Amino acid sequence: MFSQENESNKERVIPDLVVQTAASPGESYKICADFIEKMRTRYPKRNYLLKGIIDNLDPDKHPRTPISYFGKVKEEIVGIIVGEKEGDVFNGYIFLVDQKYQNTNVAVSLMRSLQADESTIKLVPAPIGMRKYTSPEQREHLTRALERYYKRFGFVPSSNHTMVWHRGNPKKNV
Ligand SMILES: CC(C)(COP(=O)(O)OP(=O)(O)OC[C@H]1O[C@@H](n2cnc3c(N)ncnc32)[C@H](O)[C@@H]1OP(=O)(O)O)[C@@H](O)C(=O)NCCC(=O)NCCS
Repeated sequence: MFSQENESNKERVIPDLVVQTAASPGESYKICADFIEKMRTRYPKRNYLLKGIIDNLDPDKHPRTPISYFGKVKEEIVGIIVGEKEGDVFNGYIFLVDQKYQNTNVAVSLMRSLQADESTIKLVPAPIGMRKYTSPEQREHLTRALERYYKRFGFVPSSNHTMVWHRGNPKKNV
């Protein structure tokens, strides 16, 4: 499944990865809800977003317009970015890659696709899928690590715990 292209950064490249965007808010919601549900079933020792939070994105029930980017390997969805536009800003809510596909080109490809389409992206670094019973200190540690991770993509800290990327920001390390 994986080919070792560059052993120096340990990246495992999945050659048949395809990144797409959902065709409509309804499809975006469904892809997101199904993927989170699959993660919940596959990794029962981890805490994923509450179903109610995901249900809030259902455009059939609420005035919401979610946009989903998803990475597919053969017919399986292996990672998603989900957000919503507010004017010119893409507000990212969920960035999640199946653990089996982490440390591959999936996460980077998803983020690069989003950055190719958008000029401003906002997100809040907040870990999803943590082990159950994660202590507040561990959560804090993971949040700091996520901030460092997003800085690699050129995001910079902003107000209210958000991080912002503007097209033209220097990109580092990715
Ligand atoms: C965040 C996420 C999508 C990144 O995907 P990934 O496949 O792990 O990331 P990449 O392959 O691009 O990068 C791997 C590198 O980033 C680091 N990294 C990735 N996610 C990280 C995280 N959450 N915290 C700290 N470091 C992280 C890895 O340690 C690795 O470092 P290395 O290159 O020095 O070995 C993935 O870790 C994930 O799904 N996490 C759970 C969901 C979550 O918390 N999402 C963030 C919501 S704001």
